Amino acid sequence: MNPDEIVAAVGESRPRIEGRLKVSGSAHYVADLPMPNLAHGWMVTAAVSRGRIRDIDATDALAQPGVLGVLDHRNTRRLNPDIAHHFGPDRSLPLLQDEVIEYAGRPIALVVAETPEQARAAAAALRVTYDAKPHDIEFSMNHPATRPASTLFGPEADTGDLEAELAGSAMVVDELYHTPEESHSAMEPHVATAWWEDGHLYAFDSNQGPFGISQVMASLFLIDPERVHIRAEHVGGGFGAKTICGAQIILAALAAEHLQRPVRVALTRRQVFLATGSRPPTEQRVRIGADADGRLRAIHHHAAFAQSPLAEYIEWCTEQARTLYAAPAIRTELSAVPLNLLPPCSMRGPGASPGSFAFESAIDEVAERLQIDPLQLRLLNQPVVSPVSGRPFSTRRLVQCLQEGARRFGWAQRDPRPRVRREGNLLVGTGVAAVAFIAGVFPSSAAITAETDGTFSVRVGATDIGTGARTALIAVAADALAVGTERVRMHIGDSDLGLAAGAGGSRGTTSCAFAITETAKALREKLGDSARPVTASVDTTPLINWQPAEERYTYSAVFAEVTVDPATGEVRVRRLLGMFAVGRVINPLLARSQLIGGMIGGLSMALHEESVRDPLTGRLVTADFAGYHISAHADVPTIEADFVADYEPQDPSGFNGLGEIGNAGTAAAIANAVWHATGTRHRTLPISLSRVIERAAAQDRPEAVSVA
Ligand code: MOS
Repeated sequence: MNPDEIVAAVGESRPRIEGRLKVSGSAHYVADLPMPNLAHGWMVTAAVSRGRIRDIDATDALAQPGVLGVLDHRNTRRLNPDIAHHFGPDRSLPLLQDEVIEYAGRPIALVVAETPEQARAAAAALRVTYDAKPHDIEFSMNHPATRPASTLFGPEADTGDLEAELAGSAMVVDELYHTPEESHSAMEPHVATAWWEDGHLYAFDSNQGPFGISQVMASLFLIDPERVHIRAEHVGGGFGAKTICGAQIILAALAAEHLQRPVRVALTRRQVFLATGSRPPTEQRVRIGADADGRLRAIHHHAAFAQSPLAEYIEWCTEQARTLYAAPAIRTELSAVPLNLLPPCSMRGPGASPGSFAFESAIDEVAERLQIDPLQLRLLNQPVVSPVSGRPFSTRRLVQCLQEGARRFGWAQRDPRPRVRREGNLLVGTGVAAVAFIAGVFPSSAAITAETDGTFSVRVGATDIGTGARTALIAVAADALAVGTERVRMHIGDSDLGLAAGAGGSRGTTSCAFAITETAKALREKLGDSARPVTASVDTTPLINWQPAEERYTYSAVFAEVTVDPATGEVRVRRLLGMFAVGRVINPLLARSQLIGGMIGGLSMALHEESVRDPLTGRLVTADFAGYHISAHADVPTIEADFVADYEPQDPSGFNGLGEIGNAGTAAAIANAVWHATGTRHRTLPISLSRVIERAAAQDRPEAVSVA
């Protein structure tokens, strides 16, 4: 083929290749995949927050029609007690091993029957008694059990003389910010079908990375990783809750082995809320000292988050404080508070989303108190190199994001005074927030075969959780092979495809794109003198430089316009604009779609999402979409997401991930806009109707708005 005829696929907006399958209902999600002789498991969860199971009386359940068995800690095979997951040893994974309960919602039994309805009915007949012990779910930074969080991501920042710089500052903001426990709420509930054959475990599982999950399952069941085969062809969202090895696949595999037949475990929405991970609540103290002209002198961000006693987890809230602005003294601290809660797991920009709410609110408070435009304050304090490590940034187009965003948003016309813009009964305000989100790649492998028919079969263990990863990787492969996309056959979503980053940490697509690019290079070298079919494969593990000389981040500036009805407390977002610097964009259509989705997640966090627990029982009160509000269509205004030109020098193709940056920044931009509209600073999320009313009353402001 004449190379001049090839149109570069990267940079082109193309719809998802599986889009037609999805909208026509022919894309098979895990629960749609047919399986002969299938049995159905119903998960039973603990009703107490701490204690022991005294007894599980299964007599009535076993007598019900269609029931095949009840698995609990007394009849379930032993699992690896020393299993480790993302953050180290993880005692939440060995399910049905003992009678100990450390959080409400802990899976304690599985009832298996011929049909899901029979399993559900029998589960209702299970009689579980407990010896309850006092539980502790009261989250606070000052909890006596508060301890430093794991430093798996590296040490926290401590540069300069913080107290001296604070003392020498003309003005110091010192405030506390709170974000609640939240639930991921992916559209597709967690579901797995598992079966065993000749000592091999097979599963369809809704997860964000089949290869990683296969490794954990092998370790948990103490079998050779080569004997675990997990597929996730189409996944209906994850938001982080499917980065962990889920209860559904562990229980399905246990039951399938026990009964010697395939078992499906499909969680209900309620069970997803109770048992599949959460974003932990946070309490964050931010202290910022500045000179009268707006120069920052001291930044101190101390974030505490709730932790499960069963496993380590890191809600890395302190990333913004160490990256966004220059200051002679920067200190960050991260604390964990062990409580009887559902073990947290990464959720929609973990750490960065709650962290940026606190930090970018505090920056706005600096601007407010110094009477400096909040956009100017941000531009004034841009660092030349990393303010903590002193290393250069590989690319840093944050200023371009702020300036271009401000231009499109019409920031120059903004009256900086709060509570002056009114439309009828409504108060109107605008706000901005900046974001830095860490970027990079994880080890991955790919294999590409040049087939005799001129097509190329690409095998990479990537996962498409609805983002369009498959489509993006086809474009990457086509360009790397210098062929049209129609000649690329992409195979993803299977642990048998080998080592691959999951769709998480904003690194799934960049990691797999790196592997594909290197593999295509190797294949093109081979092609010259080999007969087809010929295959090349590359594992990027040795190619990844974990200590590069430069710091690698993506950036954004988010602008929000809100209206507040002072009579009802209702906040509505009227406009959202995000300008993003995320390296070279593979597919603007899909990237924009993902960023808009992230911004909706941020809107949802700002105004709606809050898991509520009953302090007496520790149980989740909001375990459904009636109680747990996520932003719906009517809550979502026109959202614009666009890119500034950018190129990541650390990536051979200039790419960076953009999976989560849309989430971070949005809540702070909205909270800052609510302050601008009302004159009231909301330091606790979500900014619910009642909070708006209560805070306004507490400030003793007359709420009557004169109608012009
Ligand atoms: Mo993400 S919250 O790393 O899936």
